Amino acid sequence: MTKKKLEAVLTIIFGQGALAGADLTSGAFHATAAAGEIWRYLRQDRSIAWHPHSDSGFWVVSAYSDVAHVLRDDARYRSAKGNVLDAVLTPGGDTASGLMLPVTDGIRHKIVRGHIMRILERKIGQDLEDQLEVKISALVKSVVNNGSFDFSRLVAEKVPIMAIGTLMDLPEQDWSYLHYQSLESLGPGEKLGQNEIILYFTDLLEGRNLLPEDSFIKLLAAPNGAGQSMVEAELIFNCYSLLLGGDSTVSLTLSSAIKALATDKCQWNALRSGDVSLETTVEELLRWATPAMHICRTANQAHKLSGVSLDMGAIVCAWLLPANFDTEQFERSGELQLARRPNRHLSFGYGPHFCLGARLARIELRAMLKALVQQVARIEVVRDPTPMASNFLRGFTDMPVRFFTQ
Ligand code: HEM
Repeated sequence: MTKKKLEAVLTIIFGQGALAGADLTSGAFHATAAAGEIWRYLRQDRSIAWHPHSDSGFWVVSAYSDVAHVLRDDARYRSAKGNVLDAVLTPGGDTASGLMLPVTDGIRHKIVRGHIMRILERKIGQDLEDQLEVKISALVKSVVNNGSFDFSRLVAEKVPIMAIGTLMDLPEQDWSYLHYQSLESLGPGEKLGQNEIILYFTDLLEGRNLLPEDSFIKLLAAPNGAGQSMVEAELIFNCYSLLLGGDSTVSLTLSSAIKALATDKCQWNALRSGDVSLETTVEELLRWATPAMHICRTANQAHKLSGVSLDMGAIVCAWLLPANFDTEQFERSGELQLARRPNRHLSFGYGPHFCLGARLARIELRAMLKALVQQVARIEVVRDPTPMASNFLRGFTDMPVRFFTQ
């Protein structure tokens, strides 16, 4: 049987039925109610489905166990071609392949990841946490008596750049510019935003000799304990990745969290009264929000995944959203339970590429919850927010709310 014929057969068996012709690559599709229907169907069906695209396609993996399996096995499922649909479906793959951590495999990934991880461990401590708590509390204070306001724009979007800017010792006067370019790099002016950020870090790295010894950039550029260092392109791309990785993901989580807490008054009151801990609340809100919807890999050998034959080179798209609501892993997965434990959600991925910023993101979310509990008695969403039209990011582009202090 030819590959084309086999694909056609697989499409009939797994594809059309499961996905009903839905286009998961279309951002607009994910902003519609139909996307929810597809995930509901796949959550029950749990099969691996073929998604045709152009003259080929990709596999859709949605069951928790299959998603975790794909993400854990980095020997078989490679990242170098790209880890998001838009990159992996582009001929030639991701332009930062082999240079930026999320799209690097094997030994180079291990070396660079180990180096960045050690710097993050050194930099993310009580001091950073205290600083962020003060800043986030002030941010909430600045809007608490505003009447109706857009929580996304006035609060959520300001938090991540504050955190990553402080962590990376970036000058405060550059933060809003970097955040603006980071937003641009997700929109239609994608390339311009990316280029601006790349240029920014190129300049910063060029002047690194003038920076203090323990500045993030200087530590990053220094050799690791085994004397290995990153080449200039790796340094630039990894700075870019650290900035982008934790920007929209955190702000979308914060906005989704506000909506969830406003909607479920019972859970909000449990949080306010201290009946549920900040720790379990942060994890449940991360599961609930699932701001990064998918992670892609490329199979580097022919093999079977849950009984389905995959060719060498097959694109496998692991969907974190349905996995985080898989009833085989999460009891009453459709209910927000701030006290949920255990809660092994996959919002930060899993395995060798597990999110390097998870600790920072958790600090940001905890600090926001603390500030809300201290300063806000009731939250009301005053108008339906606009769902994000993206095949990768999930959440809302605005969050019109009103805070009540009593
Ligand atoms: C709620 C917030 C966040 C979410 C949901 C999130 C999600 C993810 C996911 C799903 C991955 C795995 C990608 C893969 O397996 O291919 C990942 C990796 C990564 N994240 Fe995050 N992230 C968040 C915050 C952050 C922050 C704050 C930073 C920066 C400080 C960051 C930096 C990174 C980096 C550098 C990687 C690549 C790790 C590797 O390839 O070894 N992330 N993130």
